[in-house]
Amino acid sequence: MSDEPAPVPSAPANSPAGKLAAEIRRRRTFAIIAHPDAGKTTLTEKLLLFGGAIQLAGQVKAKKDGRNTRSDWMAIEKSRGISVVTSVMTFEYADSVFNLLDTPGHEDFADQTYRTLTAVDSAIMVIDAAKGIESRTRKLFEVCRLRDIPIITLINKMDREAREPLELLDEIEQVLALDTAPMVWPVGMGRNFRGTYDLQKDRFRRVDENPEGETVSGPDDPIFDSLLDPVDLAKWREEIELVRDACGNFDLKAFREGTLTPVYFGSALRNFGVRDILDALIAYAPPPLSRPAAARTIEATEPAMTGVIFKIQANMDPNHRDRMAFMRLCSGKLTRGMKVKHVRSDKTMALTAPQFFFAQDRSLAEEAFAGDVVGIPNRGTLRIGDALTEGENVQFLGIPSFAPEILRRIRLEDAIRAKKLKDALTEMAEEGVVHMFTPVDGTPPIVGVIGALQLDVLGDRLIHEYGLPIAFETAPCTVARWIEAPDRAKLTAFIEANRPAIATDADGDYVYLAPSEFSLNWVAERNPELAFKDVKSVM
Ligand code: G4P
Repeated sequence: MSDEPAPVPSAPANSPAGKLAAEIRRRRTFAIIAHPDAGKTTLTEKLLLFGGAIQLAGQVKAKKDGRNTRSDWMAIEKSRGISVVTSVMTFEYADSVFNLLDTPGHEDFADQTYRTLTAVDSAIMVIDAAKGIESRTRKLFEVCRLRDIPIITLINKMDREAREPLELLDEIEQVLALDTAPMVWPVGMGRNFRGTYDLQKDRFRRVDENPEGETVSGPDDPIFDSLLDPVDLAKWREEIELVRDACGNFDLKAFREGTLTPVYFGSALRNFGVRDILDALIAYAPPPLSRPAAARTIEATEPAMTGVIFKIQANMDPNHRDRMAFMRLCSGKLTRGMKVKHVRSDKTMALTAPQFFFAQDRSLAEEAFAGDVVGIPNRGTLRIGDALTEGENVQFLGIPSFAPEILRRIRLEDAIRAKKLKDALTEMAEEGVVHMFTPVDGTPPIVGVIGALQLDVLGDRLIHEYGLPIAFETAPCTVARWIEAPDRAKLTAFIEANRPAIATDADGDYVYLAPSEFSLNWVAERNPELAFKDVKSVM
């Protein structure tokens, strides 16, 4: 998606184009990135509480609990409803419509997280104030940086002993190479956390009190005298002087370009700072952005509906082989029952039951607008990367597929069911949870995943969902790379010369399966006219 927000057409406000633009303008589609335990679930819950999407704290949390151990996680995965309901949450607040896309918590699902992040326009980065930037925060941030996604930062758990705020800002700048603009400054921390000072508006908001806060004359206002001990107070006043300039530097353009993050301090648990985040999303985060497609860029405010599938959830109901395809609307308006073209198959389909997801339930989406995410039940027609369109054919760019890091051969206890295994793997490959490589020499398929937990889930699903008793065996290869060659003849020659190491993926694209990284490099050096890719763009 581009860096710029959707242009606002000059159509009169009450014309169809004007109404469409207004609906799109009030949408924010975002994700939360965080290292486990930093407070993502707590913040999600509080955001939903503010949006009226849930009534009681503890509802999102209850769903997350039990995911901590591997076996529990898989049991939860099996009861599909839960992970689907939490994979996208729509709520309204202050006349804005928010679509919060959940990313899998476990790093073994990095590829799925990446695809989800291609469907958002901004992200909230939650940092534990006592820990600073942790490994998973950094990795998720790097994924965001690939697309320059604007990031709003919440330094959470200020009600606990925390590191020095200035030190935390410095760490964000150094480790992530991201400029910071503190928007509020904490008054105390841990047991002495009193609230925050709004650096832009000169307001003081106390923990557990009127969220509007009160206007103060500045950091020297006597209101602060009794809140901190004299030494801390003097230090705090000095800090404010120091960071004021930095706050003055909040630059919307730099934020939208992904080079600067506004920083808030708070405590999701104590409900503090949550409104800051919602207000920042409304004030600064971009509304649905334009999106690059093969022929041209599609603007969100174009009247014709287009959408891209970024996630498939299979077998939501184990008795029916139905799948839920999650579509991010890229332009226009969806009306339930409308007919759209499925670009890959060139067939028309009717969107009879598009669905919205809330914290607890789902409902039929009678209408949806660019930026919204809807679930489309289907029987396997829709795949990741597919485009649906009401107008011209489009092919959206930028949903990548990553080379797997673990490769295995599958041993089927009952060889007669080889066809069923292949069908199951094809389905799961289309869902994006496994790579299936079919060797051109006719040997059994090889599967590839990013992490060990993904392999566990794959085995579990093959056995329980598809009734296929299987075991994984070591594969003769450890590295898979897509082969690209501008010259088709060179590709054919390479394939013929290396048949035992060549396979095709679910789309029929050629893959080179190397026994080791070393041998891959050796082959790559000797075939400079070929490219061996570890990322493939799904189209
Ligand atoms: P995650 O989704 O990022 O993994 O984090 P989650 O929200 O589950 O929070 C992890 C732990 O940190 C939870 O405690 C949660 O209550 C706590 N927490 C979250 N935000 C804050 C905060 O602002 N201040 C404080 N003090 N704690 C916070 P837990 O003991 O694992 O769970 P629970 O028994 O408290 O629910």
